[in-house]
Amino acid sequence: MADIRNIYKVKEEISSHPMDSNESIESFRLTYLSRKGIITELLAGIGKAPPEERARLGKEFNELKKLAKARYEEAKSAISSEKASRVTATDDPTLPPPPLPTGSSHPLSQTLEEIKNIFYRLGFTIADGPELEDDFHNFTALNFPPEHPARDMQDTFFIRKDELDPSLDLVLRTHTSPVQIRLMKEQKPPVRAIMPGRVYRNESITAKSYCLFHQVEGLYVDTNVSLADLKHTLITFAGHLFGKDLKYRIRPSFFPFTEPSLEMDIWWETNNRPGQWMEILGAGMVHPNVLKAVDVDPETWTGFAFGMGVERITMSRYEIDDIRLLYDNDIRFLHQFP
Ligand code: PHE
Repeated sequence: MADIRNIYKVKEEISSHPMDSNESIESFRLTYLSRKGIITELLAGIGKAPPEERARLGKEFNELKKLAKARYEEAKSAISSEKASRVTATDDPTLPPPPLPTGSSHPLSQTLEEIKNIFYRLGFTIADGPELEDDFHNFTALNFPPEHPARDMQDTFFIRKDELDPSLDLVLRTHTSPVQIRLMKEQKPPVRAIMPGRVYRNESITAKSYCLFHQVEGLYVDTNVSLADLKHTLITFAGHLFGKDLKYRIRPSFFPFTEPSLEMDIWWETNNRPGQWMEILGAGMVHPNVLKAVDVDPETWTGFAFGMGVERITMSRYEIDDIRLLYDNDIRFLHQFP
């Protein structure tokens, strides 16, 4: 029978019915919501109630039914989302841990690796030397005259100045060419090596220049090494690094340690930038005075040398317009070079 007290009683039961497991939720459904459940029974009772009570009973009944359905749906979705969150790896110690984010190599390292690989295939070995150099290796043995402007305080970081004996001056090397001297002192020709490393210049820091950067030096000394060999090596190298349809030009230049000297430019254009010539390296035939400084007879041996800037090449390849980005270690920048 449906009377109002009965409906209130069922309402209370519905509100306090346990809903914390699949079983209790299912028993709730069977007891109240199924075809033979209490709610159907109550509805049948309303039909038999006196007509003047029906409207009120009907209203109470509708509320009761809404409540029962809402409780049921709510409990069901709560239990299924709880289940879903329980299947995460953190709760199961036998599952492998989620992968940690992996790092990637710095764009400068990527370029350097490529440069090394190309010269490796061309038969060059790799050598290195100290970043803290003396005047002899950085300048004198490389045929810099005593008054050469490159020795000026503006370019060079001097570490110690001994007025009595200038050969004791230590400098942060301004280029990788001193490694040529160290290598030839150690190893008599034939020599064919590249020498990558950091170099330092006392320049103001801007988008285009930084107080340190990287160079790759190259040296090939043998009998009958010619300018044609140098050109062939440089063109082969640039073709591998920049692609087959590379457009380049070779211009005469000057360095104290090479004669004749040249510079190589490549034509560089990208979608975002109009084309322009970009200098990528300096080179030349090793000056006889340099060979003499390391006791190599310039009558018997000839050689070529070159030196290139890794930052400049990297910046053009990846369209980086500020050199400082390469040294900021900003993870948002580094993530762009997977
Ligand atoms: N050392 C030169 C520089 O720093 C580059 C160079 C190396 C030029 C070897 C000629 C030969 O600019």
